[in-house]
Amino acid sequence: MEQLRDIDHVGIAVHDLTASISWYGEAFGARVAHVEDVDHDGVREALLSVGGSFIQLLTPTRPDSTVAHFLERHGEGLHHIAYRVDNCAEALRQVAASGAPLIDVIPRPGSRQTTIGFVHPHGAMGCLIELVEVHHSTAASE
Ligand code: CO
Repeated sequence: MEQLRDIDHVGIAVHDLTASISWYGEAFGARVAHVEDVDHDGVREALLSVGGSFIQLLTPTRPDSTVAHFLERHGEGLHHIAYRVDNCAEALRQVAASGAPLIDVIPRPGSRQTTIGFVHPHGAMGCLIELVEVHHSTAASE
């Protein structure tokens, strides 16, 4: 079944969220649509609108967060791509049936009151993939 509806966001790991937001504003005129601390992941994120999608700038809020480890290993850069799906649980089941390992077998709450699940890069051509189910009241266009 066709699962992917749109690009929800592209996640970029950064050291300095404020400086990164400023640069996106200066270089592209990009505006912040939303800022949120996601305690489960130990990150603060800033979403910048790009059409109906977002650039998600991510910075760690504690040293044991996966984004902190990513920055140590790779430095700043592309961290993950997030696809919008209608039903996160169903999409994860279909990915699992393909044989790819999941990071989240059970969907969990994401920022903006979305429901999310991550697919491990080892089964996805080296790309960390997030599946995002956007509930009606939090759609990007509103
Ligand atoms: Co994300």
